[in-house]
Amino acid sequence: MAEVHQIRLATDELPTRWYNIIPDLPEPLPPPIGDKQLQELPNLMIGPCLQQEFSQDSWIDIPAGVQELYLRAGRPRPLFRAHALEKVLGTPARMYYKSEFYSPTGSHKVNTALAQVYYAKETGTERLTTETGAGQWGTALSYACAMAGLKCTVYWVRAVYRWKKSRRNLMNLYGAEVYASPSPKTQVGKALYDTDPNHPGSLSIAISEGLEAARDPKAAYSLGSVLNHVLMHQSVIGLETQKQFEKVGDYPDMVISCLGGGSNFGGFALPFMGDVLTKGKKIKFIAAQSQSAPNLQGEYKYDYADHGEMTPQLKMYTLGHQATFPPIMGDGLRYHGCSPIISLLRNAGRIDTIAYPQDEKYVFERAELFCRTEGFLPAPESAYSIACAIDEALKCKESKEDKVIAFNVSGHGFMDMVGYDEVLKLSDRTPLDEPTR
Ligand SMILES: Cc1ncc(COP(=O)(O)O)c(C=O)c1O
Repeated sequence: MAEVHQIRLATDELPTRWYNIIPDLPEPLPPPIGDKQLQELPNLMIGPCLQQEFSQDSWIDIPAGVQELYLRAGRPRPLFRAHALEKVLGTPARMYYKSEFYSPTGSHKVNTALAQVYYAKETGTERLTTETGAGQWGTALSYACAMAGLKCTVYWVRAVYRWKKSRRNLMNLYGAEVYASPSPKTQVGKALYDTDPNHPGSLSIAISEGLEAARDPKAAYSLGSVLNHVLMHQSVIGLETQKQFEKVGDYPDMVISCLGGGSNFGGFALPFMGDVLTKGKKIKFIAAQSQSAPNLQGEYKYDYADHGEMTPQLKMYTLGHQATFPPIMGDGLRYHGCSPIISLLRNAGRIDTIAYPQDEKYVFERAELFCRTEGFLPAPESAYSIACAIDEALKCKESKEDKVIAFNVSGHGFMDMVGYDEVLKLSDRTPLDEPTR
C-alpha cells in the first residue's frame, strides 16, 4: 500500500469548541496581581477575551462567525508524516508535523487574531492596537482586521522592523499603520526614543506602546501570546491534530514545539497535555527555545509582561521584564516571560526544555535538511521545533525505539530569507553574476 503522507480533515471536521486547560491543571493557576493595572484592563482589552481569560469552563464554543473565518483562512490544516526526513535520518521513529505554515500570513498567529477581531467587532471596537516582535503576529492581526473591516496599529520592535521590509509592506497592504518601537507616538516610547532614536526596542517596550495607544476609547489592545485566552484560541491546532492521529490509528509519545511567549507550544501541546492530566496518557513534552532568551530557565515568580509596568504581574518563568536579549533571526522566541499556564506545568515537572545556541547555525542547518527532504521552508522560529524533533529522532535511532514524534511547523519562512542567508551564508554559495538594481 502507498505510504500515507498527508492526513486531512474535512471542513465539517473543524473543531467547534476550544479547549481551556485551566480546570484540568494539577494545581490552581496563580491569579494576576496589581490593583491599578487590573482596574484598567476592561478599558484596554476586548471584553469577551478578558472574560475568557478567567474562565473555568473546560470547553468554550467557537462562535459560528469565527468558524467561518477559520474556514476562509484554510483550516483545518493537514498533518504530514515526514517519511522522507525519517529515511534520511535512518530513524525508526515515526515523525508527524502539523502545517501551520499554510496560514495566509505565514504562521499560527491567525488562529487567535481572527477570534480576537471577531469579538472586537461584536463589541463595537473600531481599532486594534498591538505589538509585534518577529512580525508574524503584527501581520496576522493586520490580516484579521482587514477581514473584519477594523483599523489596526502595530508597534514593531525597531531592530526587526528595519530588516523585515517585505513583512512591513505586507502589513501595509492589509491596511495597517506600522511604527518602529520605541516610537515618538506614545509617552512610554517617546521617553526611550528621545534618548536614542535608533533604540533597538524590545517586545516588552512595544507591548507598553500598544497598551498606551489602546487608551483611545474606540480602540482595544490585542495580545498575540502569553495570555490564557490566546492559548485557548490556539488549541484548535492540537484539537485538529488529535483527530488526525485518530484517523491513522497512531498517538504521539513526544510532543515538541518552539516557545517564545507560549501560544504556539500551548496551542499544539495543551490538548495532548489534557489527555495526560485527565486520561492517564504518557507523553514527553519539549519546548524548544534560544539561548538568547531561554525564559523557561529563568525564575518562577511574579513579573510584569511589559517594560512600562502597565500590565498586571503574572506568575511566570521570567528573565526580567526590562532585560535585553541578543538579536536572533528567530525573533519570535525572544521574550522575557513564558505564559502562566505553561510556566505552572513546567514548574510541576510536566514540560522539558532545550535552548539552542544563539548563532542559530545548528538550528538553521536542520531547517535546511527539512527543506530538502520535506520541501517546506520553515519560519526561523519553527526551525527550533524541527531541530528538536530531529534530535529526538536521532536519539531513537541510537536506542532503536520506534517512538512517535509530533511537532508543529508554526510558520513558513518565505519572508525570512535574509535570515537564512545571514546564518547559512547562502549568497556565498550562489554568488550574483551582475550588480543588483
Ligand atoms: C512562526 C512563529 N512560530 C512560533 C512563534 C512563537 O510563538 P509564541 O511567542 O507565542 O510562543 C512565533 C512568534 O512570533 C512565530 O512567529
